[in-house]
Amino acid sequence: MNRSKIKLDLTNYISNEPNTNFRGFESKISEIISKLYSSKHDSSLMTGWLNLPHDNAMFLEVNTFVSKILNEDKYDHLLVLGIGGSSLGAQALLESLRTPLWNRLGRGKRKNFLTIDFIDNLDPQVIRILLSKLNLNRTLFVIISKTGTTVETIVPMLIAKEWVEELESPKLDFYKQCVFITSKEKGLLYELSKKHAVPVFSIPENVGGRYSVFSPVGLLPLAFSGVDLSEIQLGIQAADLICQSVNLKENLASMLALSAYFSYKNSKNIFALMPYSTSLKRFVDWFIQLWAESIGKEQKGSTPVSAIGATDQHSQIQMFNEGPNDKLICFVKINKHKRDMVVPDYSSECPDFGVYNKHKVGEILNIELDATRRALSENKRPNILITLPELDEYYISQLMYIFEVATAINGMLLDVNPFNQPGVELAKKYTKEALVN
Ligand code: PA5
Repeated sequence: MNRSKIKLDLTNYISNEPNTNFRGFESKISEIISKLYSSKHDSSLMTGWLNLPHDNAMFLEVNTFVSKILNEDKYDHLLVLGIGGSSLGAQALLESLRTPLWNRLGRGKRKNFLTIDFIDNLDPQVIRILLSKLNLNRTLFVIISKTGTTVETIVPMLIAKEWVEELESPKLDFYKQCVFITSKEKGLLYELSKKHAVPVFSIPENVGGRYSVFSPVGLLPLAFSGVDLSEIQLGIQAADLICQSVNLKENLASMLALSAYFSYKNSKNIFALMPYSTSLKRFVDWFIQLWAESIGKEQKGSTPVSAIGATDQHSQIQMFNEGPNDKLICFVKINKHKRDMVVPDYSSECPDFGVYNKHKVGEILNIELDATRRALSENKRPNILITLPELDEYYISQLMYIFEVATAINGMLLDVNPFNQPGVELAKKYTKEALVN
């Protein structure tokens, strides 16, 4: 099938960002890409996520497992426990595909998916409310942690275990309602899985948490939610081709990485990601984690900031337009909005309503985006625009993969290791020490 492409428009970038030199970086970029891709089979380097688009066995394993569980019809609900890279990717994809309101519609009569919730923090109120609302004997718990030791994941797991096993009737064994996703043959979760015969999916050693959305970490929750994984796979396969293109103009990951790099070199210390869609809020959270943990090292890196259009036109845009010129703003437009609505014609009631009824809601949103870009450009604020033909499985997964590669390239341009997170590890270590003392 010949599908439309994701586009990147740099018009408002080139005119507002001095000292950019895309051409001059062509050979540097191809060097980085070949370094990245030639390391993907090396298990000691953290680029194994570049193999995921072609891992048919993994996609099949996830689909087969999920179909079997759904056929047994033992569960209505999925509760995912995990944090950071072990949670945000699936949340981002689900929210973008179903909109944040989807989950509230409930399971209804359909049996081909489970409703889903995530616990990714130690907020006691949230944990309590969630556990009390669920029918615990019809809940499947997916516990995700690569290290298998993360406090924000293990603690809610212990609480959930207590709640499940305290039910009077029927008497339940918590671990029989669990699936673990963790490192292969090591760590606490792996040990527990052996002891209690919990089904376990592996996170390859050379796939870091924030690059793991297209491993079982993201795919399993998505499949349980009824998302078509074959479209996801097609999306990331298409992205994989784009990211390896030697034609710089077609290589969106490289162009994104370079734009961010030049802006950073021109003292734009902030990278604001501003999609025009509430459904992409979690996607921005996912990106922020990816970018911050990958790039923020050795006193380098642009700080990622979240903004949502049009909501933030009534908030942060004032700062973006007239505050310090220290930001690169990356807009994301959805060309054709799903379930769009025509504005009804009430112009006979009030002539001022007449301007709206020629349009659909999503179309007005996009007009606002273009207007905002224009205003920013008039104020010499560099901005770039990514346009998705639609917000669906194929395009959103493609975009996420492109962002992963762009992040890796940006890190390599800045000469930092985009695959470790020493700053995160340190706080984890200190938390453990404080808990023991
Ligand atoms: O990207 C990362 O490595 C981190 O954000 C981890 O995903 C996060 O700290 C959770 O770690 P774990 O999966 O080991 O529980």
